[in-house]
Amino acid sequence: MKALLCTELGSIEKLTVQEVPSPRPGADQVVVDVKASSINFPDALMVKGMYQVKPPLPFSPGAELAGVVKEVGANVRHIAVGDRVVGFCGHGGFAEECLAPADRLMPLPAGMDFELAAAFGLTYCTSLHALQECAQLKSGETLLVLGAAGGVGIAAVEIGKIMGARVIAAASSDEKLAACRQAGADDVINYSREELRQRVKELTGDKGVDVVYDPVGGPYSEPALRATAWRGRFLVVGFAAGDIPKIPLNLALLRERAIIGVYWGDWTRHDPAGHLRNVKQLVKWITEKKLRPLISERVSLRETPAALERMTQRRVKGKVVVLPEA
Ligand SMILES: NC(=O)c1ccc[n+]([C@@H]2O[C@H](COP(=O)([O-])OP(=O)(O)OC[C@H]3O[C@@H](n4cnc5c(N)ncnc54)[C@H](OP(=O)(O)O)[C@@H]3O)[C@@H](O)[C@H]2O)c1
Repeated sequence: MKALLCTELGSIEKLTVQEVPSPRPGADQVVVDVKASSINFPDALMVKGMYQVKPPLPFSPGAELAGVVKEVGANVRHIAVGDRVVGFCGHGGFAEECLAPADRLMPLPAGMDFELAAAFGLTYCTSLHALQECAQLKSGETLLVLGAAGGVGIAAVEIGKIMGARVIAAASSDEKLAACRQAGADDVINYSREELRQRVKELTGDKGVDVVYDPVGGPYSEPALRATAWRGRFLVVGFAAGDIPKIPLNLALLRERAIIGVYWGDWTRHDPAGHLRNVKQLVKWITEKKLRPLISERVSLRETPAALERMTQRRVKGKVVVLPEA
């Protein structure tokens, strides 16, 4: 079978498509014939050796997938050969076949195709958990989303609207902000030419926003935190800009703001029942067409390294789907 392989950490351009032996499942594992997977920012970090998880070399990146079960391990009961499944494999999804832990897979929801299933899990689950469990966003509150046209960002825009918030989307280009408007954003800020804190002040009549969703870090975090209202909540989701900001803690004391870390993957292990509840909620919203995940590109395994590069260069909107058999 063909797999996109990382044979040494450091550079996306060194990824190559190679013919490798089909994987065999351990007792609690499943081999999935991958029909679609999708690109997430952590895939690029993993290849560069900058992610908290470092799989042994060589490995295929690709954290989430959808496909058909080819083989199951001896202990696997809830999934059988031939089942259509979706789920998280951590890595290995950018290949024709993937070895996945059985407990990270679930049946493909009715009415969902492989591409959509592979494209919504990680980003929408992260954003729902962040806004619901971490920020406890309430209807009528104002939500500011940074990197709002990216994978987790655009999911936060859509989910924020469903939860009844007024959503302000911030991103680096007018084209990206048009996609945010399409996803339901009430107001937009182009932070490559507008002053973020000042624009938030203008848009909220000096009050500030109730919740900030920050997957970007770098130069935007501090002005966004300063733009929060009394008892505002600031969600630390990621650092796509590369720099981890060092924030003066007096900003938390002033206005009794809360700075809240979000680590969705860890939360799913602490609260598997809560995670399942959230997945069911998202599937319901998607089948009711209340959520419409944006798939902006479809690429083959050979085209995947270039798509990963585009992601690190801020040139991707929504999700890129990988089709290993293309
Ligand atoms: N905490 C969690 O549980 C969790 C879960 C999933 C992902 N994450 C993290 O969330 C972050 C975003 O992931 P994603 O999959 O949504 O990525 P993405 O689709 O690439 O979106 C990231 C956004 O960050 C902005 N950005 C600003 N500076 C950037 C730079 N130097 N390089 C790349 N992007 C830059 C870009 O928007 P503009 O161009 O508009 O600024 C881009 O759209 C990552 O750090 C990821 O590790 C965290």
